[in-house]
This record gives sequence, structure tokens and C-alpha cells, in this order.
Amino acid sequence: MITARIAAEDDFDGWRNQCRGLMRLGARPADVVWQVGEQRTDLFASPEASLDAAPIGVPKGFAELARSVICHSDPERFGMLYQLLVDLKARQRHMGDEADPLLRKLEMMAKNVRRDIHKMRAFLRFRRVEEDGGEEHFVAWFEPEHHIVRTNAAFFVRRFAAMKWSILTPSLTIHWDRQKLLEASARLKTDAPTEDNVEEQWKTYYGSIFNPARLKVNAMLKEMPKKYWHNMPETALVTELIQSARNREVAMIEKDIVPQAAETLSTLRTEAERCRRCPLYGLATQLVFGEGPANARLMFVGEQPGDQEDRTGRPFVGPAGQIFDAALLQAGVDRNQSYITNAVKHFKFRPEGKRRIHERPNVGEINHCRWWLKREIELVQPELIVALGATAVRSLTGRAMPITANRGRMVESLEGVPVLVTIHPSYLLRLPDADLAERERMQFVDDLQAARRRLSR
Ligand code: URA
Repeated sequence: MITARIAAEDDFDGWRNQCRGLMRLGARPADVVWQVGEQRTDLFASPEASLDAAPIGVPKGFAELARSVICHSDPERFGMLYQLLVDLKARQRHMGDEADPLLRKLEMMAKNVRRDIHKMRAFLRFRRVEEDGGEEHFVAWFEPEHHIVRTNAAFFVRRFAAMKWSILTPSLTIHWDRQKLLEASARLKTDAPTEDNVEEQWKTYYGSIFNPARLKVNAMLKEMPKKYWHNMPETALVTELIQSARNREVAMIEKDIVPQAAETLSTLRTEAERCRRCPLYGLATQLVFGEGPANARLMFVGEQPGDQEDRTGRPFVGPAGQIFDAALLQAGVDRNQSYITNAVKHFKFRPEGKRRIHERPNVGEINHCRWWLKREIELVQPELIVALGATAVRSLTGRAMPITANRGRMVESLEGVPVLVTIHPSYLLRLPDADLAERERMQFVDDLQAARRRLSR
């Protein structure tokens, strides 16, 4: 017997290195015992396979399959994959054989792993906690079926780059401090908080749209497998409301899609139209996505759409947009050559009679929407971003920054793009003194000119 040891349950590289060594030794799959973790002192231990990392060619599709299967919770997976590898090399199996029971089993395992990855992305909920210094920290509890937490960590880093967060699971904890990812040991569910303000918003939202008479519950359940209900704030309401609904429909829910980061602005926009990361989509008429050339050198980021933007679906077309347009014209900046977007893509408001009164997005909403802005920045790759006001600065840099003290300053976005800080044009609408408003307006025009000059350097 030969012992092949790998460092962790999801250690694909370790498994691959061991396979290379075993293949070189000509080890038969039946003679290999796979072990995970540190070596134990065992007088009767079998000899260990030596690591021989020289690569061996594998058929197309095998590495991808193996990467997923390694994360499965079945302890036999290492041996099954090694068996497949040995047979593929001996040409006793081929990857395209749909009837091959071993291949079918491994493909099913890979599919289950991908599904678990998707569930973690879709159903994990962060709860806000405040640290001693008043800093926000978001904590989530998740119980995966397979060893997917490390594999999935990069996704959460990309999506919630501007937040400080921790994901607690029964096998390991991961922390993101906005710069690096750290690992810690497993935690208990009771270590994770259970309530916060974000949850209150979800509950209010679900409470207001839920209508048992119309049995909307089935549509909601389609998005929410029962297994995850206990982690999700909205389900505190839902579970009460669905007593009479047909639970068996829950089984139809789980679609096997693992979302990928969109590769074009138009796909990104289509994805953003389905965004349910925060409750704002429920109130707004529509998503207001960024607009402008995909190769724009200059990007403007505002706060969030206002009433008219919400109705037309375009950024900066209402009163603030008109001031903005006039200032751009005066500064010699062509709006049509720029990419114009907002930190938050849905209109947040409070109804007052027939009027809709603008409300500032909170940090949670800004952070939830950051995913879309980040991807817009990655796709457009502007040379310079102009942050219009405090919400834009917060979203772009992950930091709160007073605008009056910082306007005209250059900072850097979380992606490393230079950001020029200036006021939001709606600030000019609110100034009661006409002289002051004109002085501020001229300074705004100066800031826009500075942006133009910077690009022509
Ligand atoms: N204010 C913004 O920040 N963005 C808009 O699109 C409109 C008003």
C-alpha cells in the first residue's frame, strides 16, 4: 500500500502532484490510500508516495472536472479521480464516453459541487456588526455541503471588495480586510450575529410585497431553497406566510447556474437588471445603468438616479443632469465621449403623497451596488474617474471623505484608477445664495477642466 497525502480537503494542486508521482511509480489505484492533513505518527504506516511534480499530459476536460470533483465531500473522490486518470492514460477510458459509469458519477459530483458554489453565492447573507472603533464589519454564516469555501472566496472578494467581511463555516473561516484574505479555524453558528438593519430592510420589503392571496410565495421560494431559510432574514416572515403554500415546489427551485462576471457592458447591464442584492430594486421603476462608449477615457460617477432618471432609465437627465451638462459644455468636456454612471443603480426615495422624495443610499446599499460599478470600471478601463460627491467617493475608494475639504484632490479607486474628487451637481441646486452658487458652479467647471487637462497630457 502507498499513502498519498494532501494538505487539505480541497487541495487540488497537492492531489495533482501526488498523481504525477504515483503515475511515475506505476502505482495501481487499488494500492493507494489517500489521506488529508498532517502526517500522524503511526508505527505501521505504509510508505508515502514521494512528490514528483513533473507534469503529465491529461486529456482535454479532465483537469476542469478534477478541479470541481476535488471539492466534493465524498472521501473516495481522490481515488476515483486517480483511477480515471490511470485509465485515460492507458486508453481504457475516454472523456467523451457518456455511458461510462465512473465518468458519469464524477460528472455528477462536479455538478453538485458547482451547484453548491452557486448556492453559497446566491444565499449567503451578511449581517452587519460594528467593531469597537465604530467600523462596519459584515459577518455571514454558511454551511456548504462540499469543500467549496476557499474556491468561492475570490468571488466574494470581487463582489464585496469595499467591505470588511468574514464568512464563518463549520470547516473554516475566511476574513477579508479590504486588502487581503485571511483564514482561520472553523466556527460555530452561534458565533455569527443574527439581526441587523439590512435585515430590517429586507423584512419590510418582503412584508410589503407579499400577498398570500396571490400566492406570490412560490415565486419567492424559487429563489430560496429551504435549506438556507434559517440564514436569511426575509424568511423570518416567509416561513410564517407560507404555511399553506405547496412546499414540494421548493424542489424545483435550484437552477444549476454559476454566474460569471459579464464580459461586455450590455451583458452586465442585463445582469444588473436582475439584481436583488438589496431591496432598492423593489421600489424603483427600473435600473439606471451607466451609458457612454465602452472605451471612454473619462468616467463620471454620481450618487444614484433621481426621479427623472428613474422614469427614463438614463443617468443625469433631470435637474442635476442639466446643471452637469451645462458645466461640461463650459469646461469643454464632451459628454458623449465620457462614460456616465452612478454608485447606486436604483432610485431610493420616500413617497410623500404623489411626490417621491430622494433619500441618500446608505453604506450597505452602496456596497451592494459596488459589484456593478467595479465591473463597469474593469470593462471601460477609464484613465480617469471623476467622483461627483460623497457617495461616489465612498463607493470608489471604500472610504468616507468630506467633499469640501477634498474637492479638486486626486485619490485612487479600489481598482487603482485615478479619481478626481468634486461636488455633486445637485449641491449647486440646494445653495440658497445666488452669488455663492455661482462661485461654486465656476469651481465645479474648473474641476471638470482639470479632468480634461489631465487626459490631454
Ligand atoms: N444624481 C445622480 O447622482 N445621478 C443621476 O443620474 C441623477 C442625479
